[in-house]
Amino acid sequence: KHVYILNGPNLNLLGKRQPHIYGHETLADVERDCAALAAELGTQIRFLQSNHEGQIIDWIHEAREDGLGIVINPAAYTHTSVAILDALNTFEGPVIEIHISNVHKREPFRHHSYVSLRSDGVIAGCGTQGYQFGLRRVVTLTSGASA
Ligand code: DQA
Repeated sequence: KHVYILNGPNLNLLGKRQPHIYGHETLADVERDCAALAAELGTQIRFLQSNHEGQIIDWIHEAREDGLGIVINPAAYTHTSVAILDALNTFEGPVIEIHISNVHKREPFRHHSYVSLRSDGVIAGCGTQGYQFGLRRVVTLTSGASA
């Protein structure tokens, strides 16, 4: 099985997109760091990005068979998508929600997350390091270790 690391819309532009908010690292940099951590932790990842809601939902369905856990940055769909919430509710393993920026420090429409109704943990405002925290958390929660 794999830890699914799912990224929503506009995150393909990470590093170029509003770097004062999201930093200078690219999504390829994040993938590389996650792959290195996964090797260290003895787990495997699938690192994916789409600008399309339905594609993200299809990957969540794939994770129902092949997913140890899900680390997801739903990006703007966080604040709009009942469909992604419903898909995550069909998944039985741990779900950790990631936001690179501290959404609570930003516009009020970013303060509400549909996805958080399902998330076992939420990491916001820790930059791209949040992905590594999320990956570690999934491994902790699935290794039989406590809390
Ligand atoms: C984001 C925060 C969202 O509000 C925004 O729409 C994004 C990225 C983050 O990682 O900080 O696209 O999820």
